[in-house]
Amino acid sequence: MDDLKSKYLAEIAGAADEAALESIRLTAVGKKGEISLKMRELGKMSPEERQVAGPRLNALKDEINSALAARKASLADAALEERLRTEWLDVSLPTRPVRQGTLHPVSQVTEEVTAIFAEMGFSVAEGPRIDTDWYNFDALNIPGHHPARAEMDTFYMRRAEGDNRPPHVLRTHTSPVQIRSMEKLGAPLRIICPGGVYRADYDQTHTPMFHQVEGLAVDRDISMANLKWVLEEFFAAFFEVEGVKTRFRASHFPFTEPSAEVDIQCSWVDGQLKVGEGDGWLEVLGSGMVHPKVLQAGGIDPDQWQGFAFGMGIDRIAMLKYGIPDLRAFFDSDLRWLRHYGFASLDVPTLRGGLSR
Ligand code: PHE
Repeated sequence: MDDLKSKYLAEIAGAADEAALESIRLTAVGKKGEISLKMRELGKMSPEERQVAGPRLNALKDEINSALAARKASLADAALEERLRTEWLDVSLPTRPVRQGTLHPVSQVTEEVTAIFAEMGFSVAEGPRIDTDWYNFDALNIPGHHPARAEMDTFYMRRAEGDNRPPHVLRTHTSPVQIRSMEKLGAPLRIICPGGVYRADYDQTHTPMFHQVEGLAVDRDISMANLKWVLEEFFAAFFEVEGVKTRFRASHFPFTEPSAEVDIQCSWVDGQLKVGEGDGWLEVLGSGMVHPKVLQAGGIDPDQWQGFAFGMGIDRIAMLKYGIPDLRAFFDSDLRWLRHYGFASLDVPTLRGGLSR
């Protein structure tokens, strides 16, 4: 019995986990365990023998059971200790040493724009950067022969050999998201769509990939006056000035009628651009009343609904607001540039908390 005791106590002490403990329990004190079988033999013993062996077997069984329970508790403690050790976190540590990365100006400005338009009831819509020529052109009233297709220096994707369908394009503007949003949401709707767009162009103010934000509001009795108010509210909030005068110049886009290019008031003082003062003008976006054919392509009845739309260059307004001279540097991934023009990643722009502080 002493042998049994030391054998099982040693095994229990060495058990690595609960499963091991359970299998020791079964072989020792389980129904068909070694000690249980010994207890059955008590019946064959003489009364004198039984009086000695019975209590000793019971005591051994108790001892093994409590050793099992104790080992189980200490394994659980150790597991908890280990978990606490690895999940340990000092919430009082200052955040500064962790804040190494910065937000790219495009991300920052996208968040600023989103915060401002959200305040005016616009939600964010998204669409694919690789799109069909129907969404990018036809649905926007730019048929196949239209010169705008050539003007936009479109990147076409190659189709597989023998596939004669029209090629996909890298979207040349965010306007295809107008159609997708109308299809999905119906009227009335109010969305902005920020995102990357592509045109084959490269100089100080053009890169083959850049960013636009599209705006679209469809409702009953919408007019150019609504467009003007929304844009002026936006410019004042974005450039963080009291008010910004705008100038609407008649223009032409196939998907809007009438169309206007919009300039904002600005001045140049000692080579520094100041928005919202002076008598200079700077072109910032294209806009207009959504063409009836475009509403129709989006599944909206133009006799019932009107809309305004605009498209603005995110990189361009980022350059204006933060005085960044060369667009190409935006996409060079130069760490020195990113550290200089980057934004604190934990400061989320809001109208009340401040957009760019
Ligand atoms: N899609 C136009 C462009 O890329 C901008 C625009 C959008 C103009 C919506 C009018 C209305 O130049």
